[in-house]
Amino acid sequence: MPEKYLITSALPYANGPLHFGHIAGAYLPGDCFARFQRLKGSDVLFICGSDEYGVAITMSSDLAGRTPKQQVDIFHEINKNFFKQLNFSFDNYSRTTWSGHIPTVQDFFLDLKDNGYIEEKTENHLFSVKENKFLADRYVIGTCPKCGFDKARGDECPKCAASYEATDLKNPKSKLTGSDLILKPSNHWYLRFDKFKEKLSDWIDKKNWKKNVINLAKEYIKDLKPRAITRDSDWGVPLPLKGCEGKVLYVWFDAPIGYISSTKEWAEKRGTPNAWKDYWLDPTTKLIHFIGKDNIPFHTVFFPAMIMGQNVPYILPYDVPANEFFLLEGRQFSKSDGWYIDLEDFFKRYSTDQIRYYLGSNAPETADSEFTWKDFQARCNAELLGKLGNFINRTLVFTKNNLEGKIPEIKSYDGDDKNFLSQMKEAIQKADDAYSNFQVRKASQILMELAQAANVYFDIKKPWVLVKDPSRKEELHTVLGCCLECIKHLVLIAYPIIPSTAEEIWHLLGYNSKLEQLNWDKIKDTPVPFNQKINEPKILFRKIEDEEIAEQIAKLKKGLAPKDKKNDKVDSLKEQISFDDIEKLDLRVGQILSAEKIEKSKKLLKLKVDIGLEERQIVAGIGEFVQAESLVGKKVIVVANLKPAKLMGTESQGMILVAGDKEIEIPYIKELPPGSIVS
Ligand code: MF3
Ligand code: ZN
Repeated sequence: MPEKYLITSALPYANGPLHFGHIAGAYLPGDCFARFQRLKGSDVLFICGSDEYGVAITMSSDLAGRTPKQQVDIFHEINKNFFKQLNFSFDNYSRTTWSGHIPTVQDFFLDLKDNGYIEEKTENHLFSVKENKFLADRYVIGTCPKCGFDKARGDECPKCAASYEATDLKNPKSKLTGSDLILKPSNHWYLRFDKFKEKLSDWIDKKNWKKNVINLAKEYIKDLKPRAITRDSDWGVPLPLKGCEGKVLYVWFDAPIGYISSTKEWAEKRGTPNAWKDYWLDPTTKLIHFIGKDNIPFHTVFFPAMIMGQNVPYILPYDVPANEFFLLEGRQFSKSDGWYIDLEDFFKRYSTDQIRYYLGSNAPETADSEFTWKDFQARCNAELLGKLGNFINRTLVFTKNNLEGKIPEIKSYDGDDKNFLSQMKEAIQKADDAYSNFQVRKASQILMELAQAANVYFDIKKPWVLVKDPSRKEELHTVLGCCLECIKHLVLIAYPIIPSTAEEIWHLLGYNSKLEQLNWDKIKDTPVPFNQKINEPKILFRKIEDEEIAEQIAKLKKGLAPKDKKNDKVDSLKEQISFDDIEKLDLRVGQILSAEKIEKSKKLLKLKVDIGLEERQIVAGIGEFVQAESLVGKKVIVVANLKPAKLMGTESQGMILVAGDKEIEIPYIKELPPGSIVS
């Protein structure tokens, strides 16, 4: 029986575009593992999808002036396509707003409740007087009770991965308004994690996981407390109890169950709706969660406890290979700070396998690591092109020119040949171990060491000398035969990391089959067939020039400009005006009552705005930037004494203030009523 693997990568929030920082940690290692295991003949299911509920979504959609649904629709597509561009081999990429997710999550809750693990309690929660509501999770910012980081969130610390109740934070404040918070009683449902302490401890004691993962999990289990698993919101999985309208389940309760519902969706799509059980309910399945270190408590403690409390016998994780963080030139990737890589531009210049190789060879497996443009260039040029590409190219070109493009027969070996062949065998075994142990970085090293050894062998054997001496034909055949055999080994080791290049090399070696449908051990043990005709050699990797790297670095530094130095793209100032000119302006707070597109216009929206004294119709040229519906209810700043004018036949009685022109942001008023004077 083949081994069975259920592989997951953390479901990314659909609240913004993913970047290479995410990919290097929780995603590429998962894809390499899945590809390797498939090639080894294991039964593999690789599952992912968008995490679409919770405060990470509502907060970002509020800021963008979109509804949560609009927000997740946009970023689900963007992220899904990004994975496609990176040649990911997910068997299913679902979303937690998929209809099958809600009942699965609700059943989880009800089982836990029936089994006595859920408690309803009225306790103190953080309340913002200014905003007149309870705040939780990312709406709260404060000092981490564990590590003292002063920008910790209401539920988790992005720095040390601690997970706690918002009331445990020191000095909590509202993230949006900065206002102080008070304690006020509120009713919520609590999961009695404390009741799982012993069971979790016994379970985790038997695990041989990465040190950082085990340590964090154990420490976490030490003082497990009941945690609130409901929130006041209308965006989330509804609490499946009567009379609890307005309460949803906490996102970290529903999201991991997304792994299960995504598997259910996969099963439905292929017409075998029960097939998910072959994985989730089979105790021989090895469940592997690929995550970033900030997700450790949720995958090693919370979700396992939730599973332990079920009546359905779901499997627990077999391993949780959590990785560290991946930075960009020493600091975190951040699009809003201008510290990012423009992906559209990136993929115009560089290939998917160049970035896959770079991220894999530099994966943050045991410590944080980083993307630097110089290192990217160096590894692509010196390793992919200089070692791997060079060896493959010289071998194939030589075979084409001197051996009629056919795989020669090996009749005898000398010491060097034998040594070279055993280097190949050893490399394959080491790569097998590395991939099996989630060490992509090590596998990429093994790949390059073998390519380098192959170049040395080629240089020592000097086939260009042998070919001139007809009496040394057999020797020549042995040398090229060994080199071609080595290409086959390189292809195998390379495949999980750079799958499309590996397929291409496989084809160049003269095979018509698709590597991904074959078997690692069979390929390893079957020599490249004598007399097989190779295909026309071609250059596999392009050299990256110094100038383009200098250009990228300059672009990156410039991206920071608006914050760190003067931005030369800013329009110059207009001529000065007097205070009297300002006094002439009547600016008011106006509340948008309705908003609709003006037909035949891409840009114009017709708004009805309450300015306190009266209702106005205002035409605004912002239709390309915001969804009309998202504006309804928002309070904006209105120029209230502007002479009426007609725009595309529609009267406009005022103007609303927005910032920006190519990209816009609308300043919203939160507390003051319509009609308030702005000065
Ligand atoms: N969306 C979370 C994050 O980006 C990860 C969720 S993983 C899951 O940190 F298990 F909950 F799905
Ligand atoms: Zn912390």
